[in-house]
Amino acid sequence: MNVRISEISGHVGEAVTLRGWVCGKRESGKKLLFLLLRDGSGRIQAVASADDLPQEDYTAATGADLESSCAVTGTVREDKRAPGGYELTVTGFAVIGPSTPDYPIQPKGRGEEAHGVDYLLEHRHLWLRTERQWAILRLRDRAILHLRLFLDAEGFVCADSPILTANACEGTSTLFKLEYFDRPAYMSQSGQLYSEATCQSLGRVYCFGPTFRAERSFGRKHLTEFWMLEPEAAFLTHEQNIALQERMVRHVTRRVLEESADLIEKIHDPRQLDHVEREETAEQVIARLEAARDEPFARLTYDAALEKLSEAGEPLEWGDDFGAPHETALGGLYDVPVFIERWPAKAKAFYMEPDPEDDKYVQCDDLIASGGFGELIGGSIRAHDPELLERRIAEHGLDRAAFGWYLDVRRYGAVPHGGFGLGLERFVQWLGGVHHIREVIPFPRTIKRLEP
Ligand code: 4AD
Ligand code: MG
Repeated sequence: MNVRISEISGHVGEAVTLRGWVCGKRESGKKLLFLLLRDGSGRIQAVASADDLPQEDYTAATGADLESSCAVTGTVREDKRAPGGYELTVTGFAVIGPSTPDYPIQPKGRGEEAHGVDYLLEHRHLWLRTERQWAILRLRDRAILHLRLFLDAEGFVCADSPILTANACEGTSTLFKLEYFDRPAYMSQSGQLYSEATCQSLGRVYCFGPTFRAERSFGRKHLTEFWMLEPEAAFLTHEQNIALQERMVRHVTRRVLEESADLIEKIHDPRQLDHVEREETAEQVIARLEAARDEPFARLTYDAALEKLSEAGEPLEWGDDFGAPHETALGGLYDVPVFIERWPAKAKAFYMEPDPEDDKYVQCDDLIASGGFGELIGGSIRAHDPELLERRIAEHGLDRAAFGWYLDVRRYGAVPHGGFGLGLERFVQWLGGVHHIREVIPFPRTIKRLEP
């Protein structure tokens, strides 16, 4: 019977067939072979003894190169000492698709230099097979699932935004432009403007898709293509917006701690062959997440943050946006994420609602992660006065013609509304303690990298 490794605990004592890839191999004498198999659902050790299987199968097993795919039949044994707690006693082995002895990503022995990160990125299509990358992608999957379940439980409806657009959302400096038949088009920087329209139909919506920024950044927190989850709700107040963001981050954090702590352990296993960055230990990541699960998030106004920054030796002009050093300094003040709210209007996008007490400020927030992972969320209440918006569109040098429909949303039954955007990759970095953003998306796109 074909089974997956994740189901193996239900088959102790039975003969089963596993289909997967050989990811490790060690011979002991002439008659004993230890194989490490992976099938996407997990890993298991398979022990082949020359006496227990046909000569032809034993020869095929000893000859199988790393990353050959194979079908392995055997009896499942419970073994407390085995990684994962189970082992397979092999009775049959057949190669499905052979590999070659020069598989590009080889385990390095003691003293051998590990593969460099550029080399690994060039082989990203194969690098994804290592256990660390496997664990990171599984964590990403869990984060997406629990974000969606959270929003569903809070009454949000998924209504996606287009990627090809005629207008900018987050300023014109990071737009990717392309030819769209007889006119220019832009890759979406954010689905927000469209979510503002769908939320007038559905009340509470979110869009979740790839977004694009022509960021000329080589830093560890920037991609040119990243995924953004963007909830938007009618009648939302600033306080409710902040509370929703905190509830969502806390919910997913709790779920990950309950169900996926083993993935964090694997990501930080010191034996990983592709452990390329200096990072936190699994214990440190878990302690950081536990703090975010158990303690209220911190809150600072922009002006108060500026004071803290100047005390921390990272002064900033009033009205300027934070850079990486400012985010790091503020994130380091607390062991929980911190909201920075009430920003100067001139530091932010055109669509934000002024602060009722002083219109130099806008009703918005950035959520800065603990642990040095930077800005996880940007959110705001949206201006709903069409005249104010028209002025802002002009002040920001945006093309009025492309915003006709957006202004219409205000003309027919405008209501106060707001929402936020969570950068999925930043969030997965924070959840997993992954130093560099290039590891938390299957195929990263950066200023230098369009392949594979
Ligand atoms: O703060 P941002 O630019 O906000 C918006 O785009 C709003 N329209 C969202 C909304 O209110 N619906 O981006 C939101 C988040 C950031 O906090 C960050 O986590 C992530 O998107 N982000 C990036 N992630 C990876 N690479 C980049 N180049 C990113 N730029 C922003
Ligand atoms: Mg932002």
